[in-house]
Amino acid sequence: MSKFITETVTYVHHWNDSLFTIKTTRGDSLRFRNGEFAMIGIMVDGKPLARAYSIASPNWAEELEFFSIKVPDGPLTSRLQHIQVGDELLISKKPTGTLVLDDLLPGKHLYMLATGTGLAPFLSLCRDPEVYERFEKVILVHGVRHVNDLAYRDFFENQLPNDEIFGEWIREKFIYYPTVTRDEFHHTGRVTDLIKSGKLFDDIGLPVMNKDDDRVMICGSMAMNADTAAILDELGLTVSPRMGEPADYVVERAFVG
Ligand code: A2P
Repeated sequence: MSKFITETVTYVHHWNDSLFTIKTTRGDSLRFRNGEFAMIGIMVDGKPLARAYSIASPNWAEELEFFSIKVPDGPLTSRLQHIQVGDELLISKKPTGTLVLDDLLPGKHLYMLATGTGLAPFLSLCRDPEVYERFEKVILVHGVRHVNDLAYRDFFENQLPNDEIFGEWIREKFIYYPTVTRDEFHHTGRVTDLIKSGKLFDDIGLPVMNKDDDRVMICGSMAMNADTAAILDELGLTVSPRMGEPADYVVERAFVG
């Protein structure tokens, strides 16, 4: 039996030369926890070619959404970037992953730290009611190189705060903190440097990150994940050692390929 289900593409949006979003239909069979990833792909020469992608839509939504980078010469993304509405997309049947609320201990503030397409799992999680039931403040930091890499900025700044279901929670609890490293912008610098210097906490008016109050989810490149985890370790936070064992923070690699 195939590991994949087949869905139909309903929407494609290119944010810039290197980032795009795909939405598909969603059959009844796919179940997942917000923050998890699936393998997605297409048939190439009669075989599935798939890579891991965080699911960007929340698990209650009728459609599935994925946020992708275009890797030059990437076996999958060089093809996937040409996908059109009406085309088929393969999606693995059993999503999994570490960026789940179940693996975080109770806390006051939830920090979602993303670079690049590492934003994807947080697009799902920021539309999970449990996030707002469990945490007083939810801070999404999205680090990118250029201002035009800030995909979903309008969604966070304008759409979510006015959302019928989430608007009130978002306005009361959610802080969107985009930061850019290679253009001028109102927030600049790497996520790691903003934590180390304390500037992030000054800017958002919360105490410096600490084990008592703060829980963290990290999703970026391998280097970003490692550097951020090292800072959190130094601050005394502990990482969830494996799925099902809650701790102060969880890490997932933003997949490319
Ligand atoms: P920088 O411009 O200083 O490299 P990328 O597209 O390479 O994944 O980068 C996305 C964002 O993540 C950029 O703002 C980049 O900053 C930043 N970044 C890259 N490496 C790290 C790291 N090790 N720790 C924190 N941020 C990083």
